[in-house]
Amino acid sequence: MKAFPPRERQGLYRTMLNQRQARGFRSELIPDSILARLLQAAQSAPALGHAPPWKFVVVRDPQMKLRVCSTLLKDSERASSAGDSAAQRICEAPVNLCVTCSSPDVSRSAQAREASPVANLFSVCGAIQNLWLAARAEGLGVAWIDSIRTEALREILGIPSSVAPIAYLCIGYSSGAPKVPEARAEHGPHPADLVYLDRWGASIAAEPSARPLRDQGSIP
Ligand SMILES: Cc1cc2nc3c(=O)[nH]c(=O)nc-3n(C[C@H](O)[C@H](O)[C@H](O)COP(=O)(O)O)c2cc1C
Repeated sequence: MKAFPPRERQGLYRTMLNQRQARGFRSELIPDSILARLLQAAQSAPALGHAPPWKFVVVRDPQMKLRVCSTLLKDSERASSAGDSAAQRICEAPVNLCVTCSSPDVSRSAQAREASPVANLFSVCGAIQNLWLAARAEGLGVAWIDSIRTEALREILGIPSSVAPIAYLCIGYSSGAPKVPEARAEHGPHPADLVYLDRWGASIAAEPSARPLRDQGSIP
């Protein structure tokens, strides 16, 4: 497998380092050709045994979005006065996307048949991440709305009981500037503190030969 040329590699890393939760959306529609690319990126994620467990519900109908708002868990998320409330993002974003996980058709794959049930969930998370990165590269913002009552959402979207809604995403062109990338680094642990060497708890900072692993932040 050959490495991509430097400019392409840089583009990929840049997308990852600039992935952000969108706080608000403009009303501008997403061209279907771009939405199709996002869905293709999502479905390019690895799925165990080539048996994709994901299915997507694209929600564009304003009435449906309003109904989804009624499934929000907290009053604060529903309050439209809060600038970036979940309800506001659901209604403003031209596209909402419910990403679901179901038992795939395993009849043609022994690997998929023998997989643990959570393996399907991991595949779906990979698909979500692919879509989120593709959206960033296309100049689109994504907001993952977690505070939704799953059962109510299932009923509104007509999702069968055998299928699990995993993520509810709002997608559109962001209004306002996204948070600066440094925000995460300021608030979170140092990335090197989250990597051990050879055994749990063995800090890479204590190992001189592991200096390159410690020097995270070297992506241009
Ligand atoms: C599984 C998951 C669920 C999330 N749910 C919410 C949510 O309900 N509301 C929200 O504002 N952000 C949600 N987020 C976004 C993160 O909170 C956000 O990415 C984090 O605050 C970092 O902010 P940034 O993306 O602007 O750097 C979620 C992210 C993930 C991965």
